[in-house]
Amino acid sequence: MTETHENESVMARKFERVCEILEQNKYDSNKLIPILQAVQEEYRYLPEKILTFIAISLKVPPAKVYGVATFYSHFALEPKGRYVIKVCDGTACHVKNSIPIVEAIEKKLGLNESKRTTDDMMFTLETVSCLGACGLAPVVVVNDEVHSLMNPEKTMAMLEKIVMEDAYEPVAN
Ligand code: FES
Repeated sequence: MTETHENESVMARKFERVCEILEQNKYDSNKLIPILQAVQEEYRYLPEKILTFIAISLKVPPAKVYGVATFYSHFALEPKGRYVIKVCDGTACHVKNSIPIVEAIEKKLGLNESKRTTDDMMFTLETVSCLGACGLAPVVVVNDEVHSLMNPEKTMAMLEKIVMEDAYEPVAN
């Protein structure tokens, strides 16, 4: 086996799930966006090495894959925490005091404008524009769970509940 083939097979083993996703999409470069979506669902972000692997596998220039991954804000190039907290700061949520919620979370988790993920990779904090639930403002979404009519106190209670439940989550075998 040549060194190149050896490297490719090591990479393929490492990215087994990526290979499955590529196969499901028949290695079709026109399906780059659904492929990236599925990969991000798996890894919660798009690691650089995987983007390169996808480019090689689809036989497209890596710059094209990076271009798509950076163009859409939905794609993340940095690792995110297990719980992604999105605080809506659209107009309706903003006037109903979304910023004190952001500040309370930052204070509690030791985050700031340049540090958005906790060191233990448990939480990532994001502010987003209107989530389309203005009647429930201010809105906080944790992963896919919507929390309505929030305030700093309710948000702190929610964080504590997450931490408690996470600690008791059974370890998968
Ligand atoms: S502004 Fe927050 S849901 Fe619309």
